[in-house]
Amino acid sequence: MPHGSGSLVVQKPSGGIEHPTSMSSSNSQDGHQHIRHSLAPRAVRESQSQMAEVVLPNDANPLGNLLGGRLMHLIDIAGAMAAHRHSHSHVVTASMDHIDFHLPVHIGDLLILKSSVNRAFTTSMEIGVKCWVENYIAGTTRHVASAYLTFVAVDEQGKRKPVPPVVPETEEEKQRYEDAGRRRELRKEESARRKAAKQIR
Ligand SMILES: CC(C)(COP(=O)(O)OP(=O)(O)OC[C@H]1O[C@@H](n2cnc3c(N)ncnc32)[C@H](O)[C@@H]1OP(=O)(O)O)[C@@H](O)C(=O)NCCC(=O)NCCS
Repeated sequence: MPHGSGSLVVQKPSGGIEHPTSMSSSNSQDGHQHIRHSLAPRAVRESQSQMAEVVLPNDANPLGNLLGGRLMHLIDIAGAMAAHRHSHSHVVTASMDHIDFHLPVHIGDLLILKSSVNRAFTTSMEIGVKCWVENYIAGTTRHVASAYLTFVAVDEQGKRKPVPPVVPETEEEKQRYEDAGRRRELRKEESARRKAAKQIR
């Protein structure tokens, strides 16, 4: 068992769509094969990610509950995993909004974070992260928190770059895709409102 901030398990996404016409590969001097991907659409399941962490005393407040900021940090990492996998790119966090903490998480709990791309826009992606606590004695899970994050794809110089569209396949994914479009409009409205308020001050 690793020490420090708990154990971290990263699960690779299952399956994947082949884009034979959109990929090319080359061998570099370091002997690695580099695959270049175009902006061909990718399914949600291709970048879905999961990580798990055991909550240790260092992560908790004096009552033994996981600190909200620590959970936000883990949510950011879990979200970035799906964003990296979808965009095959470096990403930066542009925003984290609508985070709900439904139930406390305690020292010793096994925290599971699942992330998936709800929708990709031009250079940005909305990622949903859902957090669960698994009771490994009783074999039950409880939903403890959820969040939506926006990541922007950037190159090595930090310059924004386009991301591939996402293909929602299941009914749930299609619903999330629609909802993400509405949330983007609300974010834009809110941002415009804040800008206007600053100009008045
Ligand atoms: C996020 C960032 C790249 C946006 O760059 P920008 O020059 O302001 O770009 P724009 O306003 O043209 O927006 C670019 C994209 O980001 C999205 N975006 C920008 N700000 C956003 C916000 N607050 N919330 C959600 N999306 C946002 C835009 O909608 C746009 O998406 P699209 O290309 O898919 O249409 C830039 O603000 C940045 O680098 N921020 C710091 C990121 C960082 O360091 N994160 C870690 C925090 S410690």
